[in-house]
Amino acid sequence: MRCRVFDLAERAVKWAVIGPGLIILLSTGVQSAETDEHFFEARIRPILVQRCEACHSSEKGKTKGGLALDSYAGWQKGGESGPVIVPRNVDESPLIRAIQYHEDGPQMPPEEAGGKLPEQEIALLTEWIARGAHDPRVVQIKRSGMTEAQLHAW
Ligand code: HEC
Repeated sequence: MRCRVFDLAERAVKWAVIGPGLIILLSTGVQSAETDEHFFEARIRPILVQRCEACHSSEKGKTKGGLALDSYAGWQKGGESGPVIVPRNVDESPLIRAIQYHEDGPQMPPEEAGGKLPEQEIALLTEWIARGAHDPRVVQIKRSGMTEAQLHAW
């Protein structure tokens, strides 16, 4: 009888040590699986929508400089001078030069649209590209008022 009590106590102590460790392991695992998606949705999409899409959106039919920034395909194709983002290569990405307001090349957003972004937003866009520019957005091509997905359903 006594031994069983000790046994149980020992097990309780073991789980008190291992349990929290397991929980931390599991939750960090889940976090890294979600992180790129969440980072894009929470931090990047709102910047692009608020600061760029008035002039760079194929959905809205406005692609200044030939550039759409409302889909992955948009920045892959890029503008008049080719792709504007090179994933994981900040220095080779014209989009970064544009938002840093480099003198050679376009300065984005233009002065009349609010001018240079706050440092924090420049840092976020830079981080996004450095991490691989994860972007789940696909263009919704509308035909006769229906999206591509709705057309396929017919
Ligand atoms: C008020 C309209 C407007 C807004 C807002 C705007 N742009 Fe532009 N963008 C332009 C125009 C116009 C051009 C064509 C080049 C020029 O005239 O400077 C351009 C060109 C560019 C180019 C060069 C494309 C190429 O291949 O030549 C990049 C990159 C770019 N914009 C990025 C952005 C980003 C990123 C944002 C948001 C942070 C943004 N722009 C917001 C109007 C805008």
